[in-house]
Amino acid sequence: MKYMGSKNRIAKCILPIMLAERKPNQWWVEPFVGGANMIDKVDGKRLGADINKYLIKALILVRDNPEKIPLNNQEYTEEMFNKAKLSDLSNPVDCFAMFQYSFGCIFKGSWSKNKRGTDYVKECVKNVLKQSKNIQGVVLRPESYLDLVIPENSLIYCDPPYWDTAGYKNDYEFNHVQFWQWCRDKTKEGHTVFVSEYNAPNDFECIWQMDIKNNMGNNSTNNTEKLFRLANENL
Ligand SMILES: C[S@@+](CC[C@H](N)C(=O)[O-])C[C@H]1O[C@@H](n2cnc3c(N)ncnc32)[C@H](O)[C@@H]1O
Repeated sequence: MKYMGSKNRIAKCILPIMLAERKPNQWWVEPFVGGANMIDKVDGKRLGADINKYLIKALILVRDNPEKIPLNNQEYTEEMFNKAKLSDLSNPVDCFAMFQYSFGCIFKGSWSKNKRGTDYVKECVKNVLKQSKNIQGVVLRPESYLDLVIPENSLIYCDPPYWDTAGYKNDYEFNHVQFWQWCRDKTKEGHTVFVSEYNAPNDFECIWQMDIKNNMGNNSTNNTEKLFRLANENL
């Protein structure tokens, strides 16, 4: 799914690095699964989690009931979107809409529209139907990374909210110090841990980086995407 902070564009660069370390039958775990734009390019045993329960509901809809996803903006209108925003989002299609039909994919943002009258509901369907095939069998959990039960000796790819970004509208206070300690602990428990971030504490080494132009939402910025892991001498 289109998503704020999606790693779709860099997946082809960083996946080969991580997959080279994956052992046969090893679980691929993403505690910050977001729009599932990395996990949908991996096969085998996969677990994706996110603290945003509405996002997980939307992904479960994509995985299990793609036929329920609206085909165009007559099937799902701006009026329905605005009404859903005020609802309890018990309908998974409304959860999906809150991310996919909102400007910049900001949860419960404003209805996506432009002067050319692009039908964003229609634009969305094709990608999502393709993604549905690629996330069959993915276990999805609405949980914080801190509560997630991770199978032994997993390969864990973390894509947390970045240190210096304003965060997601639904954001929960994210404790970065606690997060890096969790990465150290998980590595010591025997998991292989990779992290996408702009910066990391000194005991983590940058194993890949690339300058990327980001033009989601209102902002257009240049950032250096990096991939980190705990440095060998600290393992
Ligand atoms: C950068 S996005 C992940 C994007 C994803 N890799 C993709 O390509 O679509 C970060 C995600 O972390 C989630 N998040 C924030 N705090 C969390 C926590 N404590 N536990 C689990 N997920 C959390 C946010 O809801 C958001 O979906």
